[in-house]
Amino acid sequence: MTITTDPDFEVREIHTKEEYARLVDVLWTANFQPYNPIFTAVHPISGPTPTDRKADKAYDTTLRWTAHVNNPASHFIYVLDKRTGRVAGGCEWLIFHDNPFPKGPQTIPCTWYPEGSERAEYTSAFLSQVFFYRMAWLRRRHAGVNAMGVHPDYRRRGVGRLLMQWGHDRIDELGYESFIEGSPMGRWLYEEFGYRRVVSLHVDLEKRNPSEEWSRLVYECRPPAILLLWRPPRGVWDEKVPDGPWAVDEKTWS
Ligand SMILES: CC(C)(COP(=O)(O)OP(=O)(O)OC[C@H]1O[C@@H](n2cnc3c(N)ncnc32)[C@H](O)[C@@H]1OP(=O)(O)O)[C@@H](O)C(=O)NCCC(=O)NCCS
Repeated sequence: MTITTDPDFEVREIHTKEEYARLVDVLWTANFQPYNPIFTAVHPISGPTPTDRKADKAYDTTLRWTAHVNNPASHFIYVLDKRTGRVAGGCEWLIFHDNPFPKGPQTIPCTWYPEGSERAEYTSAFLSQVFFYRMAWLRRRHAGVNAMGVHPDYRRRGVGRLLMQWGHDRIDELGYESFIEGSPMGRWLYEEFGYRRVVSLHVDLEKRNPSEEWSRLVYECRPPAILLLWRPPRGVWDEKVPDGPWAVDEKTWS
């Protein structure tokens, strides 16, 4: 795909925590416009004031930066508007050169809310259900995209497309398949790059006899539909491509 876009947009990989903090600022704005209720469960939110927000973003930056430096598959990418110096948007590309899930599906803990709290349990249940499929099906080298967000001022100007292209330039050379746990808003961008929905996931967070706190979480941190989107190597859907990642024989693309 040939991408023509604003010549003042430049895609960069993040190498410092300070650069990453600027992207976190944009990702938070992107997820509050429109408001994404599950964002407040999967990120540390302590309160609504500007002081809370500043502290929460700093904590989020530290958490995710620490995870990133400990994960060689993780690449933080952003688009810089060279004219203004603003960060327009960014994402995390994960490029796994080996099987990242040798033990299969695991419970994903939530470390940013107090251990044993219902909020931590709720978030862990959400994350573990959403990522269950990747952990079960993609036990081999592959790629994925996380935390895609573009500032509202820059939407529909090709920023998301540049972020996607960065990863595909790399994985298409390697012949890796790719998988995304996407929201309905990101879907059209991903489909443009050859991803197809293989599952539309309803995350089940209901409980028999829930506490008041649990019911409040279900109401306030309602998850969107999650679309599991898959792209075979180079986005080529030919007759050799199996029905879905669950049907891939490990030898198919090695
Ligand atoms: C989804 C998001 C990242 C798209 O970023 P973007 O920079 O606006 O996307 P682009 O301008 O590169 O769009 C490329 C193509 O994707 C499709 N697309 C992108 N946003 C779309 C939308 N809201 N509705 C329909 N199609 C859309 C279009 O085909 C578009 O091409 P076109 O503008 O020439 O028609 C952005 O809307 C966003 O940050 N949303 C909030 C956070 C979010 O939902 N992230 C996705 C998590 S999975």
